[in-house]
Amino acid sequence: MKRVLSGIQPSGQLHLGNYAGAIRQFLDMQHDHEIFVFVASYHALTTSGDADELRANIRQVVIDYLAFGLDPSECHIYLQHDVPAVCELAWLLGCVCPKSQMDKATTYKDKVAKGIAASVGLFTYPVLQAADILAVDPDVVPVGADQQQHIEITRDLAQRFNHRYGTEDAPVFKVPEVMLREGSAVVPGVDGQKMSKSYGNGIDPFMAEKPLRKRIMKIVTDSKPPEEAKDPEDSTIFQIYVALAGREDERTQKLAERYRASGEHGMGYGEAKQALFELVMDTFKDARARRADLMQDPGHIDAVLRDGAAAANAVMAGVLARARSAVGLG
Ligand code: TYM
Repeated sequence: MKRVLSGIQPSGQLHLGNYAGAIRQFLDMQHDHEIFVFVASYHALTTSGDADELRANIRQVVIDYLAFGLDPSECHIYLQHDVPAVCELAWLLGCVCPKSQMDKATTYKDKVAKGIAASVGLFTYPVLQAADILAVDPDVVPVGADQQQHIEITRDLAQRFNHRYGTEDAPVFKVPEVMLREGSAVVPGVDGQKMSKSYGNGIDPFMAEKPLRKRIMKIVTDSKPPEEAKDPEDSTIFQIYVALAGREDERTQKLAERYRASGEHGMGYGEAKQALFELVMDTFKDARARRADLMQDPGHIDAVLRDGAAAANAVMAGVLARARSAVGLG
């Protein structure tokens, strides 16, 4: 059985981009893969300054994983700060990572351009991510399109480490493959930029019905009137719709037709937004109900995290011992 690892930062409420890019892949894989899914709490410290907010966000990501349908009997769910081996591995990997490689990482530049403080933690973020991944020897890492460069860096660091310390027959780290969903694109937020927890442009599928509708009605559009034909591909509303329903879905095709119609049969953007709102409510009907129950059961969340950390720590102990011994520590 192939082993899978992925994680999400608790830097704010999860959104449709996280679901479409990552969580849906976890759900598809959990029955026939050995899967480790964690909450990247150390990574969130690169952007968070409020302890209470971080604590709440960490908890909420776990609840939302379960609400979306991750099944703890099939999937190891844990917190990054419950598996200390990753920090030690990050140091070992940092010592084979050329500084120039971090200089090239685009997420650092993007975040600093958005006003996030240029800390050393933010700069070396991809090294810690490589440690998260290599620590469990996964075969594949399912992520959204925006994380591709980080997985490339992980593969490169694993190869550098193996080259320096391993042998062809006995590499220290397994070199994992990235997995993107077919046709996967970065999902735009309500402002048309990449949907991101920290940019305040997300759509939270667990919002109460009224504010959710209001949020979707906020999606930016151009000023074409209803009677003018529109190219669906130019529309943020349509891109989000496709990310959720898929291109082949009958509802997507119908909506595309509505965009292309003109004259008295033309469509205003309000109609497209209403269609997206209905799609979100329909897609997450069960998840929304499950989440309400999970919020009432903190003991269950604690038990899930205890089991998840125990499973992850057991695997990581072996990998860390291998890496320590390879470099000459013990
Ligand atoms: P994060 O927390 O930004 O996002 C979590 C997952 O959601 C995907 N995603 C998106 N996909 C499509 N469109 C979007 N607008 C969008 N926004 C987010 C991301 O690609 C990701 O799969 N660095 C990671 C967290 C991390 C990690 C890891 C991931 C730390 N260690 C090890 C995998 C393996 C991050 O910031 O994801």
